[in-house]
Amino acid sequence: MPDAITAEGLVKKYGEVAALDGMELAVPEGTVLGLLGPNGAGKTTTVRILTTLLRPDAGHATVAGFDVVRDAARLRAHIGVSGQYAAVDDHLTGAENLEMVGRLYHLGAGHSRRRARALLERFDLTEAADRPVQGYSGGMRRRLDLAGALVAAPPVLFLDEPTTGLDPRARIGLWDVIAELVAEGTTVLLTTQYLEEADRLADRIAVVDHGRVIALGTADELKHQVGGERVELSLADAAGLEDAARTLAPLAAGDLRIDAAALQVTIPVADGVAALTRALGRLAAERITVRDAGLRRPTLDDVFLSLTGHQADEKTEESVR
Ligand SMILES: Nc1ncnc2c1ncn2[C@@H]1O[C@H](COP(=O)(O)OP(=O)(O)OP(=O)(O)O)[C@@H](O)[C@H]1O
Ligand SMILES: [Mg+2]
Repeated sequence: MPDAITAEGLVKKYGEVAALDGMELAVPEGTVLGLLGPNGAGKTTTVRILTTLLRPDAGHATVAGFDVVRDAARLRAHIGVSGQYAAVDDHLTGAENLEMVGRLYHLGAGHSRRRARALLERFDLTEAADRPVQGYSGGMRRRLDLAGALVAAPPVLFLDEPTTGLDPRARIGLWDVIAELVAEGTTVLLTTQYLEEADRLADRIAVVDHGRVIALGTADELKHQVGGERVELSLADAAGLEDAARTLAPLAAGDLRIDAAALQVTIPVADGVAALTRALGRLAAERITVRDAGLRRPTLDDVFLSLTGHQADEKTEESVR
């Protein structure tokens, strides 16, 4: 499968700040790559370079076989873009906005109109279709901007934080649309800070920090890197904590952790449910009361935290206009 998107050694500097510092990507046709990273990691800068809105200071990139610098004009006909901040014309209605995009892509007036109506329906905007965008809510603008990226059914789609500011229903609706497009062969690069979204949509995830990729793999592969399962036990009172740790130590496949404030003991284990059962048996024999017990697998949150040293949801709240 040829790569629909490639990037080699992309560098972009703003004064002293290196927004990109050797960004490398390869996205096979018909797949979804999730770019996951904290604020300021370089996600939007990457999207802007790949969509020809910004020139790199060094490095090369291609999209749909076109060089992002040399073939910028031809490249644009093959991509759809939805930005982190919705780019819609306030004075036009929702339908007019989409028809305008259709005409920019030379779809023809009739085709543009039909396509616009279908997408408005798809994104729950039919009732608002003939109202000026001025009166739209943030989430409505966001959905209209996303519809705009899809008007021309481009083979490569760039979605920068596509579901930020969407309510859960709209978010799931968008996930469905993306899955359909990918099933038809569209290649998607999406940036997100929602680990659940990356987990659900992306074939592969590139974790980005300080302008470069620091880990790449499927969600499962990344979780595996972070480590195996853990048994988590919460005790009823602090008195049992030391005893519990001593009793459970032989079951641990790694470092046992005690969180005194949460009355919690966490034990890395090799054999999941069996270890949980044994742990509970040992504690019962010692008459140590357990308030809560569970087996925990690493989540993408754990991956993110262990790779970047920050929590994924440290995101500062920003309105979607
Ligand atoms: N136009 C600009 N002028 C100066 N610095 C910039 C500019 N655009 C981006 N930067 C800097 O480049 C770095 C990367 O920014 P970028 O917008 O690509 O991050 P991001 O991963 O999209 O972050 P977020 O999650 O907040 O959207 C940041 O340090 C940012 O401050
Ligand atoms: Mg961004």
